[in-house]
Amino acid sequence: MCGIVGYIGKRNALPILINGLKRLEYRGYDSSGIAVLQPPDIWMRKRQGKISQLELEIEAENPAGTTGIGHTRWATHGAPTRENAHPHFSCGNKIAIVHNGIIENYSMLKDELMAEGHLFISQTDTEVLAHLIEYYYTGDLAAAVRTALNRVEGTFGILAVAAEEPDCIVAARRGSPLLIGIGDDETFMASDGSALVEHTRKVIYMEDDEMAVLGAENVTIRTLQDAHVHRPAEELPFRTSDIRKGGYPHFMLKEIFEQPDTMVDSMRGRLLIEEATAKLGGLEGFWDAIRGSSRLIITACGTSWHAALIGEYLIENFAKIPVEVEYASEFRYRDPIISSKDTILAISQSGETADTLAAVREAKRKGALALGLCNVVGSTIARETDAGVYLHAGPEIGVASTKAFTSQVIVLTLIALALGRMKQLSAEEGARIVNALGSLPDLTRKVLANVDVVKALAKKMAVHNHALYLGRGFNYPVALEGALKMKEISYIHAEGYPAAEMKHGPIALIDRKMPVVLVAVRDPVYEKVLSNIEEVKAREGWVIAVVSEGDTMVKHLADEIIEVPAITQCLTPLLTVIPLQLLAYYTAVEKGCNVDQPRNLAKSVTVE
Ligand code: F6R
Repeated sequence: MCGIVGYIGKRNALPILINGLKRLEYRGYDSSGIAVLQPPDIWMRKRQGKISQLELEIEAENPAGTTGIGHTRWATHGAPTRENAHPHFSCGNKIAIVHNGIIENYSMLKDELMAEGHLFISQTDTEVLAHLIEYYYTGDLAAAVRTALNRVEGTFGILAVAAEEPDCIVAARRGSPLLIGIGDDETFMASDGSALVEHTRKVIYMEDDEMAVLGAENVTIRTLQDAHVHRPAEELPFRTSDIRKGGYPHFMLKEIFEQPDTMVDSMRGRLLIEEATAKLGGLEGFWDAIRGSSRLIITACGTSWHAALIGEYLIENFAKIPVEVEYASEFRYRDPIISSKDTILAISQSGETADTLAAVREAKRKGALALGLCNVVGSTIARETDAGVYLHAGPEIGVASTKAFTSQVIVLTLIALALGRMKQLSAEEGARIVNALGSLPDLTRKVLANVDVVKALAKKMAVHNHALYLGRGFNYPVALEGALKMKEISYIHAEGYPAAEMKHGPIALIDRKMPVVLVAVRDPVYEKVLSNIEEVKAREGWVIAVVSEGDTMVKHLADEIIEVPAITQCLTPLLTVIPLQLLAYYTAVEKGCNVDQPRNLAKSVTVE
C-alpha cells in the first residue's frame, strides 16, 4: 500500500527512482511523484495514474541531481489526484517528503499550522507533516523531523529532503516498513526490498520509532528519542530474478506456475521422514506452550484468512487442539476474551497488514503467546510475534495472492503434523501425510499442465456477471478463495459458500445464467456434494466442477469438469485451488482487465 523510494549517491537519481517506483507499483498505483534536489531548489513532478505516465511526462527533462525521493500512492486521505500525490512540500517548497501510513491527528495539527499562516494545497494527511517539519526547521533537517514526529500520532514511513541540505535524506518509521540499501558510495531507501535488490542485497531494516540520516557514504540511525542505534546490515533473502516476470505476461501467472517450486521451498528441510513428522526451527522451544494452550486462535485477512480456515481443520484433525479462526479486523475491536493460556497465530503474506498486526498486539497485551506465519522476512508481524515460521515462497508481486496461499496451507499442515505427532497422531498416519506432501509438487505440475481446459472455460465465464462457488469440508475455504480471486481481478461478482448452505438462501439466485463452480473431489463428503450438484442442475444452473481424476459420476451431472489428481483428503485444497486461480486469471485476461493491478486494490493493506 503505497511505495517509497530514495537515492543518494553519485549517479543521476531520476532513473534509479523511476525504476524503483516501477518495482513498487504493485503496492499502489493511482498516482506517483518524484523530487530531486537541485540546490537552491527542489525539482518535482507528480501526476495521477501509472508510473509509465509520470515517466512519459518527465522523459524530455531528465533533471540532473544525485539525491531524490519518490512515491507511488494508494489513496487513503483525498482522491487520487495530482495535488494529493506525493511528494508533499512545505510552503516555501524547500522541504519535501514522501510518506506511507496515516497521520491520525492531522486535522488538529493542520488547524494549528493554518493559524500560523501555512497554506495547504492537498487534502492529504501527509502535507501536514511537510509543514510541521518546516515549522521546526532551522537549518537542521534531522532535528526538525525528530521534533515534528514526536508530535505525530499514527503510522509513518517517511523520507524527507531539504533544499539547503543536498547531502542528506532523513528517513523515519513507525508501523510502516522502511529499508536502507547499502551500496558502494551510494545509499538506497525503499519500503520494500524489491526496489533495492537490483542495486544491493545489503540492507538494514529500520525499526519502529527510529530515524536515519543518510548520506552517500554514511548511515546514522538514532531513535526518535535521540538514542544511538547500532544495527548491522543483513542480506536480502531474494534475487533480482525473483522480481522479474521471467517471460510470463503477468506476475500472477508466473506465481501460479511457480507453485510446484514454492511448495518445495516451504517444505525444504522441514520434513522428518524417519520420524514421520515436521521440524520447524522457528517454533523450537515453543511447542510445549502451544501444545498446552487451551485453544489456538488463528487470525488473518482475505486470502490468508482462507488459509487459516484450512489450518483450523488440519490442527483440530491431527492434534485435537481447539482452534478458532477470526477476521483480524473484527478480533481487534470486539474486546476478545483472551488469556495467557491461549496462543494466537497470525497469518500474513506481507507481514504488514494493519488489522492483523493490531490483533497480534491486542492478544499479546492480554498475555497470549503470539506466533506469526509470514512470507516477507523482517516484516513487522514477523518481528513482533514471539516466534513464527516463514513461508519461503519468494516475493509475491501479483496483487492477487496465489503462491503465498498454497505455502500458508503447507506450513499450517506442517504445524498440524508436528503437533499431532506430539499428541495422538500415529506414526503410520504421520508417514502417510509426509509422503503425500512429498508427492504434492509433481501433482501440482499435473494440474498446471491442464491449463488449456481452464482457458477454454474462462472464455465462457467471461460473459457472466455473477458466479457462485461451493465446497464442503476442507474445500469450503477453497470455494471462498476461488470466489475472492474471481471477483478481485475480473470484477465478476462471485460468492463462496459451504455447499450445503446453498439451500438456505443462495439457491434463489440459480437460473441458467448462473455459473456455479463446485469442488467435488472424492472425499468423505463427495456423495453430499453430488446432491448439491443435483440441486443446482434442477434449477438449470451452469455447473463447473473440480473433480478427482477419472471421476464418472460428476461427469454425468456437471456441464464442465476440471480434473485434479487424487491426494489424501486434507491436502486436496492445495490441488483444487489451482484451477480456480487459473480460472480467475484467464477470465480477467479475457475481459481485458489489468490482472496484476486490479482496480482499487493494492498489495499489503497497511491501513485499517
Ligand atoms: C487476495 C489478497 C488479500 C490478502 C489480504 C491479507 O488475493 O491478496 O485478500 O490476502 O489483504 O494480506 P496479508 O496476507 O499480506 O496479510
